[in-house]
Amino acid sequence: MAYSLLYVSKTLLEYPGGEAEVANIAAASIKRNAELGVTGALVSTGTYFAQLLEGPREGVEALMESINADPRHMQPRIIRIAQEERRFPGWALVYAGYASLVDRHIAPLFSSLPPADAAHLAQRVITMMEGFARLPSA
Ligand SMILES: Cc1cc2nc3c(=O)[nH]c(=O)nc-3n(C[C@H](O)[C@H](O)[C@H](O)COP(=O)(O)O)c2cc1C
Repeated sequence: MAYSLLYVSKTLLEYPGGEAEVANIAAASIKRNAELGVTGALVSTGTYFAQLLEGPREGVEALMESINADPRHMQPRIIRIAQEERRFPGWALVYAGYASLVDRHIAPLFSSLPPADAAHLAQRVITMMEGFARLPSA
């Protein structure tokens, strides 16, 4: 069973222009994630980030520790995801790109929600990521 986390955070990048920095983050992440055996997906909406990390627990936690300390975003909210299998096997990181329509699904995750509701919303964000990953441009 893959250990999985979804976090959402608020971007501190300036837009427009932030997209290029996110593309740099994604490109730089592929090597380290692959070395740690971690797969997943990153969405950037211009307001928020959402990222799914899945793989060996040590690898996921090591990455989350680095990401937590990154000054390019703030208030990462981490939601543990129960999933039997990886959702993005073979993808060191899918960069799902600029996706402002995801904002309204991410925003409520910053409020205090019952865990079941947070888990439900998190699953919806992950399903959207899977949709982006299937697009030819992803
Ligand atoms: C939104 C966001 C997502 C990130 N995702 C990853 C990632 O999946 N893998 C990775 O190696 N670094 C990622 N980074 C960069 C890390 O925060 C960090 O800069 C990098 O891993 C270097 O780690 P270190 O500073 O501990 O050496 C991300 C940064 C941001 C702002």
